[in-house]
Amino acid sequence: MQRDEQLRVIDALMKHLDAGTNVDAGCQVRNPSSSYTCPDIAKSEWQRFFQDYPQVVGLSADLPNPRSFFTSSDLGKPVLCTRDDDGQFHAFLNVCRHRGTIVESEARGEKRQFNCPFHAWGYNHKGELIAVPKESHFGPVDRSCHGLVELPAVERYGLLWVHPNPEGELQVDALLGELAPELESWQLDRFVRHGDASYPTAMNWKLAIDTFGETYHFNTLHRDSLAETFYGNVQLYDTYLRNHRMMLCMKNIEVLRDEPREQWDVRRAALPVYYLFPNVQLIIGMGGPTLVRVYPEGENPNQSLSQISFYIDPRIIEAAKDPEFAERYRQITDRMEGFASVIRDEDYVAAALSHLGALSGAQEYVTYGRNEPALHHYHNTYREVLGMAPLEVISN
Ligand code: FES
Ligand SMILES: [Fe+2]
Repeated sequence: MQRDEQLRVIDALMKHLDAGTNVDAGCQVRNPSSSYTCPDIAKSEWQRFFQDYPQVVGLSADLPNPRSFFTSSDLGKPVLCTRDDDGQFHAFLNVCRHRGTIVESEARGEKRQFNCPFHAWGYNHKGELIAVPKESHFGPVDRSCHGLVELPAVERYGLLWVHPNPEGELQVDALLGELAPELESWQLDRFVRHGDASYPTAMNWKLAIDTFGETYHFNTLHRDSLAETFYGNVQLYDTYLRNHRMMLCMKNIEVLRDEPREQWDVRRAALPVYYLFPNVQLIIGMGGPTLVRVYPEGENPNQSLSQISFYIDPRIIEAAKDPEFAERYRQITDRMEGFASVIRDEDYVAAALSHLGALSGAQEYVTYGRNEPALHHYHNTYREVLGMAPLEVISN
């Protein structure tokens, strides 16, 4: 984040604290509860946002070396992501061109080539068909048109982007707008993988996204966890096309008040939480970023899966070899794991209960307050993409 922007954020958060104010969307809006439960909306979302829209599938660290790979089925189809011998990132449909079985079934690792388990056709990291056993018996196979089906894939700003439609367009800068240089400034390509968590939850995928969209709930839902580190109900909020950034206010901001401005580092005062449309939260922690990807279970409005990945600064791992810093390393990794358990045991428990509430028919609408601008923007954004009317503004 640019130096001027860091200072602007810290100043603005201090101003909110001093005045007892928070970011203000200027109005309340309300969203039909059916937006979380309607099968027709869920079907449109799955088709538009998860079958035909660019996806962030990981960070550069998920493919640490030439010949690294990982597989996924989060998008309802088997996908194989690779880094080839030249370091280039690729994504393919993980489907053998012989009789169509899944080629690679391991979750991640490094391999010389990918051999189909059925008849051992082999593919390299560029997706090229390089081996057809017993071809003299099978008959000739034109290798030039039997490589794995490639998906558009780009590695940009330390993020791995894939378009799930082989014919899709992947213009990352057009998606990010002015957010691009800020993402670049975090040098996301320098981190290493630390671990993962998967949370399948009986709730609509948008309820998972909503939990990241305000800090109004910190002093209640997180009173014994995050509220020890963060001021609830104080944040900054900015939008970048369909994406947004929230800056959560850390209690440690008070320490900066006694320091010269030249020493201010925004990450000691605030936690940047980026939302990348349609389903990604990217949290820039002091020790490294956390990536949260939320998926519906296909067209089912009532079930979602959150894939959470933790990354760590390699300099911290290096420093931890010195016993003097080992404790600090433990604190950082404990904080990452603690954060994941807060999502699972607090946010997603509350959100799953909201889903039950939506299914109950108890109320026609849910309300997003003036202090929840991320929810205004996020819900209006996907509604616009789906051709739905904007959220109804409540005049009061
Ligand atoms: S299905 Fe893959 S080699 Fe036959
Ligand atoms: Fe929360």
